[in-house]
Amino acid sequence: MRIAVLGTGMVGRTVAGRLVELDHHVVMGSRDAGNPHAAGWLATQPAGRAETGTFADAAAHGELVVNATSGVASLAALAAAGEENLAGKVLLDVANPLDFSQGMPPSLTVVNTDSLGERIQRAHPRARVVKALNTVNADLMVHPELIEDEHHVFVCGDDPAAKGTVAQLLGELGWPESSVVDLGGIAAARGTEMYLALWLALAQATGTARFNIKVVR
Ligand SMILES: NC(=O)c1ccc[n+]([C@@H]2O[C@H](COP(=O)([O-])OP(=O)(O)OC[C@H]3O[C@@H](n4cnc5c(N)ncnc54)[C@H](OP(=O)(O)O)[C@@H]3O)[C@@H](O)[C@H]2O)c1
Repeated sequence: MRIAVLGTGMVGRTVAGRLVELDHHVVMGSRDAGNPHAAGWLATQPAGRAETGTFADAAAHGELVVNATSGVASLAALAAAGEENLAGKVLLDVANPLDFSQGMPPSLTVVNTDSLGERIQRAHPRARVVKALNTVNADLMVHPELIEDEHHVFVCGDDPAAKGTVAQLLGELGWPESSVVDLGGIAAARGTEMYLALWLALAQATGTARFNIKVVR
């Protein structure tokens, strides 16, 4: 599949690299087509299977678009990607609205009655936003087998077919069908984003970022 990965941080580079390994054709997007992180990533990719460009270049390329930008900047990044380049496409949103500007721990900039996922969906009504993978660190996103026990990942979004496409992609990344919990519409992003307050405390308490939720019924 042609996939856009918007974001040149650890998540963007990790997810984009794994998608190339899985034989997808990836364009990594950034504010600046000459972004050094994107260039460094591209240099490690097999020839002809990956490219870099602006957010708009990447979004224009992708049949599916991954938002892996800083949560406080995601609306700006997606505006730069362009409404027309997102229309009708599955937009997999892995971002968390964390503000690190006042130090640690970061604060969530949107909570309770709204979420970043919903804001993105409202800003791009023709995009098919699916929130997923924001509750695990970058390594686990693409290598869930790093935790041997059963553990779970969440999807939510208003378009059932888009959630199906994301669930299929999660399967390619190694998430078994039984590990994917569908939380319903995009408003459920409130919960998965607010979980970050607990995620951050757990990371500090356990000294690792390699942990996840197991839903026991
Ligand atoms: N780190 C993890 O393991 C993890 C796990 C789950 C979810 N997440 C979420 O995944 C997202 C990416 O995280 P990350 O640590 O890889 O990277 P990050 O540092 O949070 O974000 C980097 C990206 O944000 C873009 N950006 C920053 N300021 C911008 C602005 N003013 N306008 C437009 N774009 C801007 C950057 O653009 P340029 O390329 O132009 O510099 C870059 O592509 C975040 O939302 C994070 O909360 C992270």
